Amino acid sequence: MKNCIIVTGGAGFIGSNFVLDWLAQSEDPVINLDKLSYAGNLENLASLQGDPRHVFVQGDIGDRALVDGLLAQHQPRAIVNFAAESHVDRSIHGPEAFVQNNIVGTFHLLEAVRAYWSGLEAPAKQAFRFLHVSTDEVYGSLGKEEPAFTEQHAHEPNSPYSASKAASDHLVRAWHHTYGLPVLTTNCSNNYGPYHFPEKLIPLVIVNALAGKPLPVYGDGQQIRDWLYVRDHCSAIRRVLEAGRLGETYNIGGWNEQANLTIVRMICGLLDQFQPRADGKPYQDQIAFVTDRPGHDRRYAIDARKIERELGWKPAETFDSGIAKTVQWYLTHQDWVAHVQSGAYRDWLSTQYGATSPAVLVTGAP
Ligand code: NAD
Ligand code: DAU
Repeated sequence: MKNCIIVTGGAGFIGSNFVLDWLAQSEDPVINLDKLSYAGNLENLASLQGDPRHVFVQGDIGDRALVDGLLAQHQPRAIVNFAAESHVDRSIHGPEAFVQNNIVGTFHLLEAVRAYWSGLEAPAKQAFRFLHVSTDEVYGSLGKEEPAFTEQHAHEPNSPYSASKAASDHLVRAWHHTYGLPVLTTNCSNNYGPYHFPEKLIPLVIVNALAGKPLPVYGDGQQIRDWLYVRDHCSAIRRVLEAGRLGETYNIGGWNEQANLTIVRMICGLLDQFQPRADGKPYQDQIAFVTDRPGHDRRYAIDARKIERELGWKPAETFDSGIAKTVQWYLTHQDWVAHVQSGAYRDWLSTQYGATSPAVLVTGAP
């Protein structure tokens, strides 16, 4: 397919937002390769039904024969690799899937891409790009006063998830240095927005609040994350793909550090406005402090000056507008929420938060 790109993991949260955004502003087709794990959801892409520019293929990035076949058939000009297991708490309960999908999967994908790229004619070979989507979690945790992560910060991952992402970043780097593969890596902070699976803090709090359930805050709720609206992440990736320097990494962030408890209270405040509780009480009453995540990173913060300086990218959305849009999106997409709350989702909630678990220390707003 002329000028097409392959997006892996394009049925997940960020990948599906990326595919939707890409096709809203480009005629270049997308081959979307996703194995449809619990986090992959074709409903996210329903608006593309019948659009010949989107070809969905269910499969694993680690399936060499499948990936070789897709590369030979479609001759993409770029790969954008989102495919990964992405939830830290799941990596604590079951790290093996993270090693398999994030490390071994990326290895097989790189090998397939290397073989394809090596066989391209000069102009196509020169233009080809492999963009690896990674996370700020590879840099470890910051103290309160420490400067934000730059691209020079050492990789110091602390969870099985972040260790698996750091390993995949290293593979990508090595395939560039050793084989000359034209790679780009992005390390982004916490995303939020539409289609965010409700195992992660922001969608979990919205969904639980509306269902009258406890809003679990780990530890003291003072851990800090740097939140970025998902469509800003998508625009940053497009920009890096277009103009990033080969072999470089680019940090992407929202300049928006917030403590978890502040986030939870903001969401409660928005819901009090948009959909007040039937009993007139504030949603904050549902906050429940629970046992902390093992090895919980205290603070992430991204220094996004390099991508701004070199590529002119900055986030467009403010946190106030982005979080309000996000809460509204969940209120108007209750059917999407209902569909993702399958048996598997309920099993996860009881593994992580089980009603009789000793995890609950204190309930009610502090
Ligand atoms: P997600 O869990 O919502 O989606 C991941 C998608 O990848 C799913 O659709 C899943 O089916 C697919 N997938 C998993 N393993 C696969 C495999 N072996 N082959 C093919 N498909 C596979 O994750 P997300 O939040 O959208 O994150 C996407 C990427 O962005 C990940 O690489 C993640 O590390 C990175 N990232 C996420 C955030 C964030 O805040 N969510 C921030 C920075 C970077
Ligand atoms: O920083 C980028 C990373 O952000 C991505 O690489 C990951 O894929 C993504 O999942 C996210 O990781 P976090 O662990 O920061 O996100 P999560 O939404 O799971 O948690 C955000 C914060 O909220 C974290 O400090 C843990 C806390 N938390 C989370 C849950 C699910 C709670 O207090 N209660 C909860 O129930």
